[in-house]
Amino acid sequence: MCKSYTSKTCSSEILYERAKKVLPAGVSYIIRYFEPYPFYVKEAKNAHLIDVDENEYVDFWIGHLALILGHSPEPVVRAVKEQIEHGTHYGASHELEVLMAEQIIKMVPCAEMVRFTNTGTEAAMYATRLARAFTKKGKIVKFEGGWHGGYDALHVGVKPPFDVPESAGLTEGAIKDTIIAPFNDLEGTIQKVKNEEIAGMIIEPVLGAGGCIPAEKEFLRGLREICNEKNALLIFDEVITGFRLAPGGAQQLYGVIPDLTILGKILGGGFPIGAVVGRREVMERMDALKYERHECCFQGGTFCANPVSLTAGLVTLKILEDGTIINELNRKGRKIREELREIFGKSKFDVQVVGEGSLFHTHFTKNEVRNVRDVFNADRKRLIDYHAFLITRGVFFLPTKTGGLSSAHTNEDLDKLLEEAENYVRKTT
Ligand SMILES: Cc1ncc(COP(=O)(O)O)c(C=O)c1O
Repeated sequence: MCKSYTSKTCSSEILYERAKKVLPAGVSYIIRYFEPYPFYVKEAKNAHLIDVDENEYVDFWIGHLALILGHSPEPVVRAVKEQIEHGTHYGASHELEVLMAEQIIKMVPCAEMVRFTNTGTEAAMYATRLARAFTKKGKIVKFEGGWHGGYDALHVGVKPPFDVPESAGLTEGAIKDTIIAPFNDLEGTIQKVKNEEIAGMIIEPVLGAGGCIPAEKEFLRGLREICNEKNALLIFDEVITGFRLAPGGAQQLYGVIPDLTILGKILGGGFPIGAVVGRREVMERMDALKYERHECCFQGGTFCANPVSLTAGLVTLKILEDGTIINELNRKGRKIREELREIFGKSKFDVQVVGEGSLFHTHFTKNEVRNVRDVFNADRKRLIDYHAFLITRGVFFLPTKTGGLSSAHTNEDLDKLLEEAENYVRKTT
């Protein structure tokens, strides 16, 4: 990061020095670290972050892509304030969980029943367990570049090289039943699974952490067929794409309906949440009134169906339900990708601007980007340099990560990105 960052972020630097002593790597999630130290947010408003040194950033990271209405949207804040007056955490059954489940079922094509979790990771963990409980088989297929959170069985094959564990502390037992298949490669996937008894396949319809790469429709259709043939469950991880690509998520957009879906991010309206949703017959495997312990899949937790998260989420889903905002964001997403392509097209850089709907990313390579291998073969140093430049100019992408739009982004916010992308091209040409 250049001098203009360090000279503008003195208070953040001091905070980071303190943070290093009390938080491993000085952060609460390693992806939030970037060199030489992250700025510290003091306030977030609409589509802007303001740091402790009063620098303002147009935010295209929008809370790990969770904030489709921007930071603290007024209807959500109002509803949450009211809810807090009535309790922050009941630890008992309440109407909101019914209302929210009904709302999800109305919007998400595969959803016939719902169970709430607190994070996407937890939802991925329980969906995997549920697939195994339902099919009585052990193996689970995930795809190269797929990020489903840090749950052991799925915390493999995220970044190349794929034969090296993504984390220390994963036992052989925890990952031996996970098959890593190539993304957007149906033939390769068929080869991987043809001699295997599989419980299910979990896939992000648009790779998020893996570089914002849409799955090809034919590929998703092919996976649906493989699962049908093998009596396995197709699980969509729509933690990012849910309520973003369409009111019913990627499954609505692509017209491929999975058996189970995991949700998170947007579902919580800015508060922590996750959910497993899907076909009744499968979801009922979590019904301990119906199934004996040896056949029943446990799911639950202290904060499940937290009323504050559900209040915020329900307001958000009702705003998104008719598709008006999502369609508009998708239109803007298309436009921003086109305009970025145009800007980089005139530069000395070979750039692929990728994405779907209101998600977008910029990879510095002349080759088409169809999977995470292509993403890592691109010029990552250049990407970090580009994102670092944008940060010094008041435009925030978490370096190397996917960007997203919210309804709080104004035309000026979008113009600011384009203008700074042009400045980057100019500066480096
Ligand atoms: C596609 C996808 N699935 C699952 C997760 C895990 O969700 P959480 O961070 O809420 O545990 C993430 C988080 O970024 C994600 O992007």
